[in-house]
Amino acid sequence: MKVLGIESSCDETGVALVSAQGDEIPRLVAHALHSQAEMHRDFGGVVPELASRDHARRVLPLVQHVLDQARCALSDVDVIAYTRGPGLAGALLVGAASAAAMAAALGKPCLPVHHLEGHLLSPFLSVDPPRFPFVALLASGGHTQLMRVREVGDYQMLGETVDDAAGEAFDKTAQLLGLGYPGGAALAALAEHGRADAYALPRPLLHSADLDFSFAGLKTAVWLQRRKLGLEATDAERADLAASAQAAIVDVLVSKAVRAVRDTGLDRLVVAGGVGANRLLRQQLDEQARRRGFRVHYPEAALCTDNGAMIALAATMRLQRGARAPHDYAFDVAPRWPLDQLTPPRAATRTDRIESSSAAGGGWPPPGADFS
Ligand code: KG4
Ligand code: ZN
Repeated sequence: MKVLGIESSCDETGVALVSAQGDEIPRLVAHALHSQAEMHRDFGGVVPELASRDHARRVLPLVQHVLDQARCALSDVDVIAYTRGPGLAGALLVGAASAAAMAAALGKPCLPVHHLEGHLLSPFLSVDPPRFPFVALLASGGHTQLMRVREVGDYQMLGETVDDAAGEAFDKTAQLLGLGYPGGAALAALAEHGRADAYALPRPLLHSADLDFSFAGLKTAVWLQRRKLGLEATDAERADLAASAQAAIVDVLVSKAVRAVRDTGLDRLVVAGGVGANRLLRQQLDEQARRRGFRVHYPEAALCTDNGAMIALAATMRLQRGARAPHDYAFDVAPRWPLDQLTPPRAATRTDRIESSSAAGGGWPPPGADFS
């Protein structure tokens, strides 16, 4: 089975081809990515309309590039998957419409995928794939969540941020230090030259009994400290502030993730989303895992941030577990779509199969439908 995945939820157009034999863990055949970061940099954040237009320009050339790398034709693809949400509505629509149009032209099925399900399954494409069940720490530009993952589609929210996401805390600190957008990786690089204990910054909710996060207060504390330093801040002071902010964010993420592993009694942790690329976070989690006897799994570095591979992968893992891949080409997008609303895939019954083959063009998916 060959599945083509299209990701367009924010400012990266990602396309990938994944293949799977029977029940084996899927394999990444080829992937290509175009980041719009440069285009949005001057605005200090993603401009939705510019993002949509750029996705529309990029998606088909990227598909061609992936097929060329994989040395196969579009007609060799068995299923086309796309990100249905969450994300920017216009940006999602470009990926969804492109996927549905290609699938319709080929007469192949088209499958909507949840972006965060893609992130949390992405370590299955790594050299050290996890096994179910596990705890997942999802830390990206828009989300910070801890999930108990029993199987594909069986997600229980354990805790989440009550305000900013961890990636947002990295990005806003980076912005205050003049590092551009998105600044997570640049902030981490600057932090390498600073002292993590130079400024005492708050670790919000570190000792709360729940597994929730809060990063808004930290942002304000960084802002106040940056103002105190003023225009004459030296490179060393900027590096110290970067290191102190990174340490505060990472401390909270590590402490809550470790607590989630302990509370659930599970022995595996999966870390996914752009912040999962952070070196300090990985060092500290690996250290905790060694001390406490659990395993940590990460996506390959190139697949931490948004990409098409995780979308093709999530679709493939659903199909392997019996999900129906519809042949009718109505589509919608879900800019807000809680991950724990997903359900596990279920095998198609005889009635489902008859209905889906006789309902060509007949209103699938209905708004709010589950895509199991
Ligand atoms: O998962 P992702 O690509 O997009 C969303 O779905 O949001 O995550 C992007 C976020 C950005 O906030 C970015 O600054 C952050 O991940 N990020 C990092 C690093 N690389 C990317 N944060 C900390 N350290 C990094 N090395
Ligand atoms: Zn993402």
